[in-house]
Amino acid sequence: MQEVQNYIQTNQQRFLDELLDFLRIPSISADTKYKGDVLKAAEWLSAELTRIGMEGVEIVPTKGHPIVYAEKQVDPSYPTILIYGHYDVQPPDPLDLWHSPPFEPVIKNEKIYARGACDDKGQLYMHVKAVESMIATGEMPCNVKVMFEGEEEVGSENLGHFLKSYKDRLSADVILVSDTSIIANDVPSITTGLRGLSYVEVEVTGPNIDLHSGVYGGAVGNPANILCTMIASLHDENRHITIPGFYDDVEIVSDEERKQMNMAPFNEEEYKKDLDVKDLMGEKGYTTLERTSIRPTMEVNGIWGGYIGEGAKTVLPSKASAKISMRLVPNQDPDKITKLFSDHFKSIAPPSVKVKVTPHHGGQPAVTPTDTIEYQAASKAMEKSFGKAPLPQRSGGSIPIVALFEQVLGVKTVLLGFGLDSDAIHSPNEHYGLFNFYKGIETIPYYFMYYAEMKKS
Ligand code: BES
Ligand code: MN
Ligand code: MN
Repeated sequence: MQEVQNYIQTNQQRFLDELLDFLRIPSISADTKYKGDVLKAAEWLSAELTRIGMEGVEIVPTKGHPIVYAEKQVDPSYPTILIYGHYDVQPPDPLDLWHSPPFEPVIKNEKIYARGACDDKGQLYMHVKAVESMIATGEMPCNVKVMFEGEEEVGSENLGHFLKSYKDRLSADVILVSDTSIIANDVPSITTGLRGLSYVEVEVTGPNIDLHSGVYGGAVGNPANILCTMIASLHDENRHITIPGFYDDVEIVSDEERKQMNMAPFNEEEYKKDLDVKDLMGEKGYTTLERTSIRPTMEVNGIWGGYIGEGAKTVLPSKASAKISMRLVPNQDPDKITKLFSDHFKSIAPPSVKVKVTPHHGGQPAVTPTDTIEYQAASKAMEKSFGKAPLPQRSGGSIPIVALFEQVLGVKTVLLGFGLDSDAIHSPNEHYGLFNFYKGIETIPYYFMYYAEMKKS
């Protein structure tokens, strides 16, 4: 393993330069204008995988963006690690809030600034470089397969089909994913849970055309006002969600586990200061750490209607809309929650408006066990590279395919992420620490080493 680490040291600068090239490709999966660039990123990756000595490198087309697949069989008696990552990124909007262009990466204060720097190109690339280092030095203690998708940020709709049709080739002992965060650079952690997601769009329609708000206002139901009232009623004064049945299946976390999770280092004053808010707001009876991990939530992600141009226009809009997402916890089923939402939302509409609810993508929550050698190997690898044992921590984010991996492939996932919650993923000025990038490249070969050892004994 020392040779692998030496190789990483020697090639540090080149690894970074390559990542910057990768970040220059605007692989925005949500926007069809960038379809060619998403493909370009897939081609760039596959060329890189071929160059480092991976075998059977393939760009697998899907109905949407392609999946990049490759493998390296070292010895049939070795365990097999399947690496997953996504090379697509979120749209960079709002552009004017970026201090430097999102697809022209710069290094500032020891951080790489670019869309995708952390989520997930930077983290995906740590695996490519770790695998390169193991192949180049001939110290590869596991067989490895990689699958990198280009549709994670739009719901991974075609990945399920790929998993089914490639099921035999994807056989593995464990799936390794770096697409989550650690608590802090001096507080390593391993993600042991992800929330699920139910995402809906609602449209409230009143009169058949926009009206003069002086002539008709006060007499005709205003869809914008009504939408706001309806949304407001979805939480009560304790910030509980009011949809009947919403909490029925929510997993009750034991007092012991809650106590444990609240021992993780967290400074609420600093948290507020970083966000520039005077106070926090959330479900009564739960701490911030609990509200963002073991409790379900509902957030408006976008809301519009009526006149939003310059100046004032006195109009009573015909329609108003919102995008609303609910984060779900273990045992809540996304389809069931979507139906509960839809039925309830329609039932609370006054007869002066019509309501349409359109479901978008959803996803199942996931919890990963800590009493497996898959997890223990990750814990030892982080302890080796950070000099400190990692804490298990549940995350508030969602990676819906983790549940699919278990259902379709029957393989458990280890969430070995290296980002920080403050890396501004999905936001302007997304960044990734050089420390985190290199720490990831250092840790992954240790994972291979410990996993192979533990699997043998
Ligand atoms: N990498 C994130 C998920 C994440 C972020 C997990 C931080 C833990 C900590 C992933 O790319 C993502 O953004 N997921 C989406 C859901 C997806 C279906 C669009 C999310 O969580 O909103
Ligand atoms: Mn991601
Ligand atoms: Mn993301």
